[in-house]
Amino acid sequence: MSLTVGALLALSFFISVLGLFIFIWAQTKGLMQAGPDAAQVIFAKGELGVVEEPSISATGRATLQRVESESSGIRFDAASLHTVAKSAEFEERIVIDRSSRTAAFAFLTSSMLWLVLGSIAGLIASQKLTAPDFLTGSAWLTFGRVRTAHLNMVIYGWASMAGLGIALWMLPRLLKTPLMGARFAVAGAGVWNAGLAAGVAAILSGWTDGLQWLEIPWQIGILLAIGGALCGVPLLLTLRQRKAHHLYVSVWYIGSALIWFPILYVVAKVPHVHFGVEQAIVNWWFAHNVLGLWLTPLGLGAAYYFIAKVLGRPIYSYNMSLVGFWALAMFYSQAGIHHLIGGPVPNWLVSVSVVQSVMMIVPVLAVGLNQHMTVAGRLATLKHSPTLRFIVVGAILYTLVSLQGTLEALPFFNRLVHFTQYKVAHAHLGLYGFYSMIMFGSIYFVMPRVLEREWPYPRLIGLHFWLVGIGFSIYFVFLSIGGVLQGIAMLDATRPFIDSVTVTGPYLMARTFGGALMTLGHLVFAYHFFAMVLDRGTRRSGSVLLGSARPLGAE
Ligand code: HEM
Repeated sequence: MSLTVGALLALSFFISVLGLFIFIWAQTKGLMQAGPDAAQVIFAKGELGVVEEPSISATGRATLQRVESESSGIRFDAASLHTVAKSAEFEERIVIDRSSRTAAFAFLTSSMLWLVLGSIAGLIASQKLTAPDFLTGSAWLTFGRVRTAHLNMVIYGWASMAGLGIALWMLPRLLKTPLMGARFAVAGAGVWNAGLAAGVAAILSGWTDGLQWLEIPWQIGILLAIGGALCGVPLLLTLRQRKAHHLYVSVWYIGSALIWFPILYVVAKVPHVHFGVEQAIVNWWFAHNVLGLWLTPLGLGAAYYFIAKVLGRPIYSYNMSLVGFWALAMFYSQAGIHHLIGGPVPNWLVSVSVVQSVMMIVPVLAVGLNQHMTVAGRLATLKHSPTLRFIVVGAILYTLVSLQGTLEALPFFNRLVHFTQYKVAHAHLGLYGFYSMIMFGSIYFVMPRVLEREWPYPRLIGLHFWLVGIGFSIYFVFLSIGGVLQGIAMLDATRPFIDSVTVTGPYLMARTFGGALMTLGHLVFAYHFFAMVLDRGTRRSGSVLLGSARPLGAE
């Protein structure tokens, strides 16, 4: 065992040290400017103070612009805006937006399909926990298989593909150059989809590698690795051709995620190397890092860009955003073993991970304070911007889930909630409350630019928000309470074990209800998405192309 543990620690340490060296290198090359000016790199000349919110009509944008100008006290000058809209930089941005549309479209469309399928599988799994006789006729519909199919579809289908689609769309904008090698990404989407479809079919047929988050058999997992690698090609090619010298913080997040994920996946998936307890250690090293070093950077990178862009304001403290990124890069990779507190693993290994988990407070506070302070005083804009509404909720829940994670790593609390439904609530707070909310908001922003048309039924955006918001609140609150009661029952040696099962019953039913509302919200979202793709519905203000007659907030 010590060999694998040593190798893993060495690898984690290596990733942190590599991060440190890249940090020093980036400093010396001047790629990482600090100070308020550096935060303005995402705006064209004269664009500061101008809202960009393609998910609403021109009239809605004018209202948003007025509310934002009132909140910030800066007068909005519509005349100068028209000059900006005619500028060469704007013309260039139109070309840049067009360069990534096919790649972004391929990923985002796939992610929608996986979101719907994954949610339905989650709902079936949830119902089975309170009605065990539900759908018992076929082996492929048993809890173990449906639950696992749900997990893989939402992680690798919905979350990863949405994150990649948004990242591929943002990168050329951030690097101020058209996306290079977009066809590699499109091919990557095809290979990734094929790998995932085959993986889910394998899981449902009973063929898995048997490790949480790594269930897809490695023979099929190779396709995911190839698909992911193909997506890395445009990143490298576009980075080489970039016109932006200074790299905005979102580029650091997205670029690192695209490098970290393949390392994690390949190390954890290599067959016939890890056995027994070592395998559990590798498993949790991967499963935790896939959240923190893959999905979290994609989500935070998007939040840092879209919050600033919608408000037309640079983020509150650019320096703090860099502290947040580098602290994540240096502290996160050794935190995963806190999932094995109390297990047959060396104590010192657990201690290292608990310390790292507590250290995570540094990046979390840096990100949280920064994003909340950017929006502070401008809460009225949330009413008018769907993108901001979803993303700000996601950013708040990021702070919450991260602080909750640190608490859960502390042994006294871990004893209570380990092996309970509380963990499932925590997982959904992270992947749903934080990550998925940010992705929903980002997709509302990006799709009108990708298709150059409006969302056809604006009311459906509100319906989506409230269905998933209420559904998720029910899911999270009830499951957390049920989980704590379950933990109390399990720790009480005088009570029979079955008490810990029956006590969760009503809370699991509430989860199914909350999950049904979330799934309904996803169906509404998917209907709206495909209605837009098929060009259904009314047209209100024409093309939402940048630089068109009424380009931004102008009436
Ligand atoms: C985008 C949406 C969703 C994401 C990202 C997501 C993510 C996850 C994750 C990460 C897990 C593993 C939790 C763990 O073992 O610690 C999980 C399990 C589960 N999810 Fe979801 N989920 C989503 C939507 C839903 C919905 C709509 C339902 C409907 C009720 C649902 C029901 C379940 C159930 C029943 C489990 C298994 C819990 C257990 O093993 O006891 N999920 N999900």
